[in-house]
Amino acid sequence: MPEKRLEKILLGRTEIEQKIVELGSQISKDYEGKELLLICVLKGAVIFLADLMRHLTVPAEIDFMAVSSYGASTESSGVVRILKDLDCSIENKHCLIVEDIIDSGLTLKYLEENLLSRHPASIKIVALLDKPERRKVAIQPDYCGFKIPDEFVVGYGLDFSEQYRGLPDLCVLA
Ligand code: IMP
Ligand code: MG
Repeated sequence: MPEKRLEKILLGRTEIEQKIVELGSQISKDYEGKELLLICVLKGAVIFLADLMRHLTVPAEIDFMAVSSYGASTESSGVVRILKDLDCSIENKHCLIVEDIIDSGLTLKYLEENLLSRHPASIKIVALLDKPERRKVAIQPDYCGFKIPDEFVVGYGLDFSEQYRGLPDLCVLA
């Protein structure tokens, strides 16, 4: 292990890559003939977005949103705030929210409702990771990479206090 605060590798880079190939082909099939707007939730989902979009065969634009629900802790505050909004209107667009992980679901629930009020043609969610045990509100990703146990994970874009985002594998924090 490169860092002593990491306990183990939960998902290795090869496993993640294979799953993203599958997600990319499923999403491309489902959106055939349509144009897609990928809405990346900063910052954790940037690496997932970059990898996923290279496996899409449908035309896709990207935009970014930043919301805060966590401070420098591993527990959700339940408070969601928009720190950076989208650059463009999503009216009549097919939107796919790209999220790193769904934990309590509070962030996505808020985002989905907020975006729905802007009259998109459709809204779906792709999440690389899902911790279903931790859910506080009813929300399901339309596409999910991996269901994982209730452990705090870092790497592949995910952080703990802004650290570890650059790790190529997904690791469990000690
Ligand atoms: P939720 O609102 O509780 O679903 O939290 C979603 C956000 O919390 C994600 O976008 C992540 O930024 C963060 N998060 C939740 N679980 C983890 C984790 O295990 N590692 C790193 N970030 C996490
Ligand atoms: Mg985070």
